[in-house]
Amino acid sequence: MQIDKELLIEKALEARKMSYSPYSHFQVGAAILTESGKIYTGANIENASYGATICAERTAAVKAIFEGERLFAAIAIAGSPERTAEEDFVYSYPCGICRQFLREFALPDMAVYIKGPENEIKETTLSELLPDSFGPEHLG
Ligand code: THU
Repeated sequence: MQIDKELLIEKALEARKMSYSPYSHFQVGAAILTESGKIYTGANIENASYGATICAERTAAVKAIFEGERLFAAIAIAGSPERTAEEDFVYSYPCGICRQFLREFALPDMAVYIKGPENEIKETTLSELLPDSFGPEHLG
């Protein structure tokens, strides 16, 4: 599948605006491209009981899954402290829980694009971020 990574990053940036992060003040947006060619977005949503927070990646994933999607081709992630200047963006990698959550629905070569400062985009794959992973096929 031809993946427009710039478009996916744009969608993640747009989604980031919906972040609810009054505790960390760290805003994350994510955009998932599914096998069907649709894009689902999400942002991090925090909670006064901090551990109940959900990351941007899982917000996007849950939206996609609920709409019937089961296979993810790519995800773009854009995260930075509340500011939006180009230089404020950090390479915001998916946390461990999100890596495992995405693994369940990842196509074998699922791409991961991460926005950095100065319009840089880091490219990797979910299997690089989560090698030797456990998935549904292991349950037999
Ligand atoms: N966060 C994400 O949204 N995705 C990640 O993969 C890492 C962390 C959020 C959770 C919390 O709202 C804030 O970033 C600081 O940890």
